[in-house]
Amino acid sequence: MDKLIIKGGNKLKGDVQVSGSKNAALPIFVSTILAPGKNEIRNVPFLRDINTTIKVLESLGAQVVGNGHIVTIDTAGINSCEATYELVKTMRASVLVLGPLLARFGKARVSLPGGCAIGARPINLHLKGLQALGAEINLEHGYVEAKAKRLKGARINFDISTVGGTEHLMMAAATAKGETILENAAREPEIVDLAQILNQMGARIEGAGTDTVRIQGVTELFPTTYSVMPDRIEAGTFMIAAAITGGDIRISGMKPEHLDALVFKLQDAGVEITSRDNVVRVKAPKKLKSVNIKTRPYPGFPTDMQAQFMALMCLAEGASVISENIFENRYMHVSELLRFGADIVIEGNSATVKGVKKLSGAPVMATDLRASASLILAGLAAAETTEISRIYHLDRGYESIEKKLAALGADIVRVKE
Ligand code: EPZ
Repeated sequence: MDKLIIKGGNKLKGDVQVSGSKNAALPIFVSTILAPGKNEIRNVPFLRDINTTIKVLESLGAQVVGNGHIVTIDTAGINSCEATYELVKTMRASVLVLGPLLARFGKARVSLPGGCAIGARPINLHLKGLQALGAEINLEHGYVEAKAKRLKGARINFDISTVGGTEHLMMAAATAKGETILENAAREPEIVDLAQILNQMGARIEGAGTDTVRIQGVTELFPTTYSVMPDRIEAGTFMIAAAITGGDIRISGMKPEHLDALVFKLQDAGVEITSRDNVVRVKAPKKLKSVNIKTRPYPGFPTDMQAQFMALMCLAEGASVISENIFENRYMHVSELLRFGADIVIEGNSATVKGVKKLSGAPVMATDLRASASLILAGLAAAETTEISRIYHLDRGYESIEKKLAALGADIVRVKE
């Protein structure tokens, strides 16, 4: 197993390029099931979750060929409608194959994902939505078994804003008979990216990115070529890396408008942010100020940036209150940040972070993807050496993060444990 060794204290400087978005690429890969033939997906990040998605598609009978950041997925030969526990348990987004398989073949058998490090994360709203589209759903031996002759359009009102649920039903409804209306739909940019590729395949989806998505079902979808949007969470993580190290960096290839909530909060903390032609310059202030955040569905402050922002607040002047409103257990990084000498108290879904003068490097353990990122950020700012073990979580969602940080001047290396 690999670990990261960081000698903290270097101010980051220079340029960094953002990779393609993990959370957009995953449903985009899955959507190719609906368009039998050769689909070409560009700007694909090199990540473990992408490899897992490729394994899922190959296990169904698709042929997948990678060439750098371009991946060709030929879904003409799909001949299995089952996604096994082995695959789904390693990456819960695999469950999204259920709707597209059902839409194309009239049946599917997909393992239930189970809980995960950040919360219970049920898929009840995905299943309720598929039932509303006319699917017959049975849960047997840990698997969801779904059947339907042809899905039929319906009006679906989500109880909670769900990113995966919105994406899943958008895909399932694309070839359903008649109109589907998704109300209280999630509005994340990754949903807009998915709607764009589906429309390029021939779907008729309107309103993605708002809370009402209208889908006029079509009879079939056709293969296409599509370039994945930039990863807003990777971009946000680099913004905080600059802010926490007293740095001054330029981030290219990102869409700053996808990160408004974070940008406003960083500016409140005193960070200078300017942007021109999708290049964003982030300059740390002499002293960071404390700010409160509440995670919310998009366009609110993203839960996927909460752990990283908390690392930043550990070194701000004053006290900051951070409330996590999306996942019930997303504070696994707190006990590790305490090992750096941070002052954080959790009560219910809120954490009070009192800024300290300095963090000191420590051996710590990564527990999930964004928690791992927060430990790197703390390590970059901490005095002396930090060792982060179990970094396989990080490889799920950040492409070559240690190389990108080293190019910005960080002293960070990956070693075999
Ligand atoms: C997506 O997860 C992202 N994953 C997550 O990113 C992200 O944290 C999350 O959206 C919120 O922004 C991918 O896109 C692959 P949800 P998803 O359905 O779709 C509850 C990362 O670090 N819920 O919007 O699974 C759920 O438990 C990851 O990159 C139900 O109750 O999230 C949660 O509390 C982690 N029933 C809330 O809704 C359901 O059927 C929002 O979850 C579905 C969800």
